[in-house]
Amino acid sequence: MADNHHPSPVLIPPPSQVQNEAHVKSMDQYREMYKKSVEDPVGFWGDIAKAFHWESGPTGKFLEYNFDVRNGPIFIKWMQGAKTNVCYNAVDRHVKSGNGSKIAFYWEGNDPGDCGKVTFSELQDKVCRFANVLKSLGVQKGDRVAIYMPMIIDITVALLACARIGAVHSIVFAGFSVDSLTERLIEPKIRFILTSDGVWRGSKLLNLKAIVDSAVDKCKEQGHVVDHVVVCRHLLPEEEYVVNDRDVEERPGQRPSPQLKIEWHAPRDKWWHELVAAASPDCPPVWLDAEDPLFMLYTSGSTGKPKGVLHTQAGYMLYSATTFKYDFDFQPDDVYWCTADVGWITGHTYVTYGPLLNGATGVIFEGVPTYPDAGRFWAIIEKYRVSKFYTAPTAIRTLMGFGDDFVTKYDRSSLKVIATVGEPINPEAWLWYYNVVGNKQAAVVDTFWQTETGGHVITPFPGATPTKPGSATFPFFGVVPIILNEEGKEVGVDVEGYIVFSQPWPGVMRTVYGDHQRFETTYFKKFPGYYTTGDGGYKDKDGYIWVTGRIDDMVNVSGHLLSTAEIESALVEHPTVTEAAVVSHPHSIKGECTYCFVTMKNGSTYSPELAVELIKQVREKIGPFAQPDFIQEAPGLPKTRSGKIMRRVLRKIAIGDRNIGDVTTMADESVVDILFKLRPDTA
Ligand code: WTA
Repeated sequence: MADNHHPSPVLIPPPSQVQNEAHVKSMDQYREMYKKSVEDPVGFWGDIAKAFHWESGPTGKFLEYNFDVRNGPIFIKWMQGAKTNVCYNAVDRHVKSGNGSKIAFYWEGNDPGDCGKVTFSELQDKVCRFANVLKSLGVQKGDRVAIYMPMIIDITVALLACARIGAVHSIVFAGFSVDSLTERLIEPKIRFILTSDGVWRGSKLLNLKAIVDSAVDKCKEQGHVVDHVVVCRHLLPEEEYVVNDRDVEERPGQRPSPQLKIEWHAPRDKWWHELVAAASPDCPPVWLDAEDPLFMLYTSGSTGKPKGVLHTQAGYMLYSATTFKYDFDFQPDDVYWCTADVGWITGHTYVTYGPLLNGATGVIFEGVPTYPDAGRFWAIIEKYRVSKFYTAPTAIRTLMGFGDDFVTKYDRSSLKVIATVGEPINPEAWLWYYNVVGNKQAAVVDTFWQTETGGHVITPFPGATPTKPGSATFPFFGVVPIILNEEGKEVGVDVEGYIVFSQPWPGVMRTVYGDHQRFETTYFKKFPGYYTTGDGGYKDKDGYIWVTGRIDDMVNVSGHLLSTAEIESALVEHPTVTEAAVVSHPHSIKGECTYCFVTMKNGSTYSPELAVELIKQVREKIGPFAQPDFIQEAPGLPKTRSGKIMRRVLRKIAIGDRNIGDVTTMADESVVDILFKLRPDTA
């Protein structure tokens, strides 16, 4: 990695309307709290834990861990032996303290005008009934439950009901294909699936139930049987189907959707509403150990096989709640909206657990930013008077492309914090967000974190941190970031290296489900004593951290991490393809996209039609969001003498940069010229 010398941009001070009411009002206050959090984590998090309900306290040490593979197995344990329940803390606690009538969620459907809401008391009722439904199906503590649902209030009910009884939820984003869903059902041997009939995403109708049916069939072919599929009625019309106390006829938009046809497989399939109607609203929480699993969530792995990231009870609860409180500077009268799908980690931590643990009023949005037009986000902000808003750079760049009028015609004066996550945000998009969306009145909070970290690890504090557009700034409480070079030595100012963390924070993942060795190898082997993020970055002269992106074989497309190996294996499954190499390519909206080199089998010829087929194949094997942007023929690939594909060279070819660097280790240099000649005109 090369040295970087970046000009220091202007500092943007925290907006006064945010600073005045903030939990942390100055950098001095931040530094003081940060110091305590890293020097005395037990005291720091022990104080924070007092705000939550514990059925009983820790029986051993508050924190025990080993972060160094040289000293034996890696483990992290917070508050071992303490008994609690995350669902109780997120829901019941607020009802008990007199906030039952506060809105927990506003729901905004795909079509404007289609909406609903739920109070904390109503949420408690729904969760308890559904937890009893799960119990009646035989779900027990420790059982894995898959959730493949759209952005409706019931998806949060599903999570919380699992948490209430100690079942481990494993959400699969409802944009993953049949094959991806199948893989995620088989490995943890999941017998219970919660899904929906279907969903509209913009003007596209998705039949979720049919995808689940096919996945269950594929599981069966591979010897795994799914016993129960609970279907939440969302689109299918039914006479007595009334949402939001309005008649079906009055409902605008595309719901109900008689054009959706689903198949029914009794006794496996059950209607959610029928089971719930027969269930009792009384369901005492199961008191769980601090280190019992709370959920697993698959994330891409560089080998191509996804990893089931496992999070546990107490640590995740403390961390999701605390990061939410400080990084969005949560205030009781906030209306908070995170646009992420619950199927990704952001939707777990910052649509569901973090906000609910703070008793916040949230917005759940089913649709997409550009439907019915590019003003939708800002219309929703005006409608609910959203004060804290959290979205992704790719959405910001997309909407920026539609011009300022879509934004400025709506009232955004309620906004105080506007945050981003998912990938590095380019300064141009940052400034547009700050100037146009936030009208210079709202703090921009660029949060760096990962599925594995459970919550934000590098982030500004909106009332304290002077920001630099494009920098995620400073570590959150308890997080100690260090930048290392290839040899494991700390680098100097402005020098890019590997971002690692030297001690555990409560939200760090505990293991890879069913494969602890993979956990140790992926995150702790490269630099013993440190958790390795897989991201590169540098610290500038003022100590600001700049994350530059993945330095492993991962591509971040629109904020979704994809492994190049996974796309390669989808490509080589095509009968005419013998080898494939996938690299990342810059993209003005998505941040990065994938560029695929494919080598044809002897006797097969490449054609534009084949490229279309290959794109379709990747969509089917992984999901539409993984669709490659570029495919090119590669009669040969640049390889080292030992046969390793030189991706560094392919990345240069993909962007048309002839300056390919050192090629002395390349087995056959002549392929480079050929590959440059075969680049598609569009690339
Ligand atoms: C990237 C999403 C720069 C990074 C929460 C990380 C970011 C990966 C940022 C995790 C940011 C996320 N700046 N890069 N603010 N936020 N990333 O697991 O490469 O889906 O490793 O978690 O996204 O993606 P994941």
